[in-house]
Amino acid sequence: MILIDGKKISEEIRNELKLKIDRLKKESRKLPGLVTILVGDNPASEVYVNMKIKACAQIGMSSKLEKKDAAFSENELLELVESYNNNSDYHGILVQLPLPRHINEDKIIEAVSPSKDVDGFHPVNVGNLVIGKETFFPCTPFGVVELLRRYNIETKGRHVVVVGRSNIVGKPLANLLLQKKEGANAVVTVCHSAARDLRKYTLQADIIIAAMGSPLFIKEDMIKEGAVVIDVGTNRIEDESTPKGYRLCGDVDFENVSKKASYISPSPGGVGPMTIAMLLSNTYLAYTKIENF
Ligand code: GUN
Repeated sequence: MILIDGKKISEEIRNELKLKIDRLKKESRKLPGLVTILVGDNPASEVYVNMKIKACAQIGMSSKLEKKDAAFSENELLELVESYNNNSDYHGILVQLPLPRHINEDKIIEAVSPSKDVDGFHPVNVGNLVIGKETFFPCTPFGVVELLRRYNIETKGRHVVVVGRSNIVGKPLANLLLQKKEGANAVVTVCHSAARDLRKYTLQADIIIAAMGSPLFIKEDMIKEGAVVIDVGTNRIEDESTPKGYRLCGDVDFENVSKKASYISPSPGGVGPMTIAMLLSNTYLAYTKIENF
């Protein structure tokens, strides 16, 4: 079994981007910039946003946090997004989800200029992904495909079973892997919570991607010998033996599934760090497009 080390690969990607930014600095060029907008006080969102800002600083990318309290209105947020659509110092705009309930998420996602939509959530970018045109790939699915590519795991003609159909992971990932190009070209099945006999599908997978948000759900009797297993889940489960009273785990029962898998990405330490690396990569891509670089 080979452990897929997302932390190591994400460091490689960040180092590659840092070299590009070092060169821009040496040439006294404008730098790529990311603005992150956080509304409300969701503790998990605060942790994620801080990680994103730290990652920008590490590679020398300029970044700004717009932190607004939970009473910030939908109109105010629409105006804020529009101000960054027109701000040439920022090439990427990330509105951290979930938003407070009084704000319509779809409206906000659609307000972000597709050319600065480094999350790849705007319907125009989603549409471009589905028809195979150039676009921003949502960061987590992009991270999964990049992990497979950097570990030389063949996807062409192989059966990938994606478990989970979210707009952030399952659906874009299935569309990415379907594309008729290098690093994709897979036969894709998407399963979800309404599947009558999930095991019937997962047992056929050459590559299984767990992205349903159910702790330790994928067990060893659900995968075939030698399958590649990618765990996208990050869940908190109670654990009295830890100081915090909980620990993080993925959607895969790693301890047992790893005995049967050929490759396996753990959680934490697999796909998670890749999400941030691909956000930086998308911001650099937005910069090259906007600045005609
Ligand atoms: N919340 C959880 N994941 C994400 C993500 O990838 N992007 C944004 N904007 N919010 C999130």
